[in-house]
Amino acid sequence: MNLFEKQTHEFARRHIGSGEAETRLMLRTIGVKTVEELIDKAIPSSIRNPKTLYVTEAVSEAGYLELIQQMAAKNRVFKNYIGQGYYDTITPSVILRNVFENPGWYTQYTPYQAEISQGRLESLLNFQTLVSDLTGLPLANASLLDEGTAAAEAMIMFFNQKNRDHEHVGVPKFFVDHSIFKQTHDILVTRAEPLGIELITGDFAKARMDETYFGAIVQYPNAEGNIPEYRSFIRDVQTVGGFVVMATDLLALTLLTPPGELGADVAIGSAQRFGVPIGFGGPHAAFFAAKEDFKRAIPGRIIGVSVDAQGNRALRMALQTREQHIKREKATSNICTAQALLANMAAMFAVYHGPQGLKDIASRINILAHALSNGLAELGFELIHEYFFDTLLIQMKDPEKLRSIAEGRNMNFFYGENGFVSVSIGESSTQDDVLDILSVFATYSEQDEVAAFFDYDHHGEIIPVTLNRSSAFMSHPVFNTHHSETEMMRYLKSLENKDLSLNTSMIPLGSCTMKLNAASELIPVSWPGFSKMHPFAPAFQWKGYEQMISELESWLCTITGFVATSLQPNSGAQGEYAGLLAIRSYHAAHAQQHRQVMLIPISAHGTNPASAVMAGMKVVVVKSDEDGHIDIQDLKEKAIFHKNELAGLMVTYPSTHGVFEEGIKDICQIIHDNGGLVYMDGANMNAQVGLTSPGFIGADVCHLNLHKTFAIPHGGGGPGMGPICVNEKLKDHLPGHWTHPGVPGIGAVSAARYGSASILLISYAYIKMLGSQGIRQATAYAILHANYMKSRLQSHYPILYTGPNNTCAHEFIVDLRPFKVQAGIEAEDVAKRLMDYGFHAPTLSFPVPGTIMIEPTESEDKAELDRFCDAMISIYQEIQDIAEGRMDRIDNPLKNAPHTQSVITADVWNHGYGREKAAFPLPYTRINKFWPSIGRVNNTYGDRNLICTCEPVSSYADGVAV
Ligand SMILES: Cc1ncc(COP(=O)(O)O)c(C=O)c1O
Repeated sequence: MNLFEKQTHEFARRHIGSGEAETRLMLRTIGVKTVEELIDKAIPSSIRNPKTLYVTEAVSEAGYLELIQQMAAKNRVFKNYIGQGYYDTITPSVILRNVFENPGWYTQYTPYQAEISQGRLESLLNFQTLVSDLTGLPLANASLLDEGTAAAEAMIMFFNQKNRDHEHVGVPKFFVDHSIFKQTHDILVTRAEPLGIELITGDFAKARMDETYFGAIVQYPNAEGNIPEYRSFIRDVQTVGGFVVMATDLLALTLLTPPGELGADVAIGSAQRFGVPIGFGGPHAAFFAAKEDFKRAIPGRIIGVSVDAQGNRALRMALQTREQHIKREKATSNICTAQALLANMAAMFAVYHGPQGLKDIASRINILAHALSNGLAELGFELIHEYFFDTLLIQMKDPEKLRSIAEGRNMNFFYGENGFVSVSIGESSTQDDVLDILSVFATYSEQDEVAAFFDYDHHGEIIPVTLNRSSAFMSHPVFNTHHSETEMMRYLKSLENKDLSLNTSMIPLGSCTMKLNAASELIPVSWPGFSKMHPFAPAFQWKGYEQMISELESWLCTITGFVATSLQPNSGAQGEYAGLLAIRSYHAAHAQQHRQVMLIPISAHGTNPASAVMAGMKVVVVKSDEDGHIDIQDLKEKAIFHKNELAGLMVTYPSTHGVFEEGIKDICQIIHDNGGLVYMDGANMNAQVGLTSPGFIGADVCHLNLHKTFAIPHGGGGPGMGPICVNEKLKDHLPGHWTHPGVPGIGAVSAARYGSASILLISYAYIKMLGSQGIRQATAYAILHANYMKSRLQSHYPILYTGPNNTCAHEFIVDLRPFKVQAGIEAEDVAKRLMDYGFHAPTLSFPVPGTIMIEPTESEDKAELDRFCDAMISIYQEIQDIAEGRMDRIDNPLKNAPHTQSVITADVWNHGYGREKAAFPLPYTRINKFWPSIGRVNNTYGDRNLICTCEPVSSYADGVAV
């Protein structure tokens, strides 16, 4: 390589942690000569794709930024008054810089390890508190994927609540008011069909409810901008035993009576307009708030308050036993990755503005909308609705004429059916904007003069008197303190400091692929050319996005060995669901709709069976053999037994045990021979890219977690993207969207056509900067690093399940179960002790209870891998000290871990080991010490005393237990 070629390929050596000398040392430890020899040993030859992968040439980082800038310039960002769930908002710079663009926030993992996650847990608790306060409902979760899917989650929760005691569905109907957002309606249709739910769409004011309805949805304010009075409708639904979900707008709720006070059971919506850029559809956090009665049924993650080992207030994820990873096919939702980073941004927006600031923003919007309505009336236009918050609806004789005038002035309105046009005002709208909008309408009606009167005192007569909010909200000090930028910056930093992120140390979570999220990949996401695009803007305005999306789709097809990609699913589990619907639709198209049995190995991730049930399938579990591999005999017997109703198989590859199973091609063949299709869970694609592919192996469809293999950061539990790639058979069964009619396929699975479109840029950048060679090399190094760590650890710890030639794929499982007998030490003790060594634990007790699964990824360097191995070996020695009686079985550094600064520096120290051993167990911890901010959290206490919103300030007082 000459110096210029070297620059072109520079990103590979920045993304991949180990250099040549380190590689040689690692190979020596493993006992092989070259990386290729290791790959040959690890991947069975029948699975290796002999063809060299070609996707794209690599570009340098600077070259990439130039190229993507040109692409951004192809997007034409107009003033957007489209609304319909996506509104102009102003991201405060202090939040943009310190959260959205800050690896200390965006590289965090889901806060399963509460002791090193208190910062984001506090922020998510703030999110729940603001949602609960604004909706007037006592319980809220810490985000869902988007407004449309949140509505569907509510529908399914009600459905289960009403029908759970019945063998068969007894109460099948769900009422949908016709004035909800179109995308929400479409998702409800998709979700309802496989479960046998009958959707009845109509006008809520004329609906006649009876006992066959289990629930209803209305929108407030609705898609037309109107603010209807729902109280008596809610009572009617509840009188017949049904439940009501209100889709709503948090900003409007600062002025409107909250859903809880109107009697609603659930409120859902999007928190996008709390400072989160539109981003061509996402990512944004959806919210979900409910009455107490639903506390064990609410989908998604809930943050709760508990205590730590010293009795101090401690936050953690509550009620985990409801989730799909425990409940599998009995789960009521498949939500895993959600939108934590965006929920944090929305929460911080509320913290920064406070209740009065939010009310001011809402009132400004309402004043502008009012002025616009008066101006339009002056021009002779008749508004359809008397009451509104931000959106005005007008029926136009010639909407196309209006569109052409508006687009000529770089403005977008929403053009519905039958000539209805709506205009939605956002936070960034100004008085001049109102005059500009009026002048478009004046030109349309051939008038010259426009005038607007701004009622600065905001008398609010455009909100019905009976729906004016009188209750206070967000009175907690956290929303009333951090209003200066200095205070806000420090608050953000203080929370960030409590959390261990990738900018502290490696996060070796098996199955999660916590790799580098490079700055150059992330930077363009917040550029206005991408971040301000509305998902319903006309196609001529998003040519840059179009190019990026079509290139990415074709690269993902090549990488997976398939022919078509849908970028719509916005998480891995949503990809599973979409892929299974594609299989279902394929069978139906071949008059085989009775094929509804999905075989799923016992070792599968909990989302697999949960998604299968959502797609209307019956789960049949396949056993594992003694080596942890799929029991092929059992699989064969079950496939043959269910041959007439077999829909397919869901399989993860390499297996969830981190092994390239040799029998995978035979497994695919067995399924095909019995009329089924193969769904491959792509969570482990980081071990496949460039070496093999789901298509080559014989699968029919797979999802890709772009937030694993393709560098989207985990954001503390989202955002993510879970596109699906399919073969010829399934290419006409991909999710559709109303913005793109006439394409064969299934219904919509996400609110926006390309899901959380703006973060696709990250995966695009990853592939573009690494190029074909680089992405293959990344896979090879992921496998090298895992095998190196396995080699270092195997003389201390039993490694559970290995593949051909005693190798692993890109991850491996360390069995900790023997230590329970020997020393009373459990996997959780090791996980907590690793915090004292400055590390986040590997994946705990998945897929095998009592084990940890380590996935180092290619991005770490050898020195970091060694530090982690040293920590594990040192912990092994501590366990031996306990087992051999040199240390107490109860009072030891593992059982007492993690050790906080206040425990270490307390005047009293009553332990049989020293403070130094507790806090500085290896020399490197003296140079770079990460302090867990609380001691070990008590989960049981928190679940028994459920508190999911910010508690009174008294409970925060020093050392006081809640
Ligand atoms: C094997 C496997 N499948 C599916 C999923 C679900 O993906 P997501 O969290 O994006 O919904 C995960 C998530 O960790 C996983 O590890």
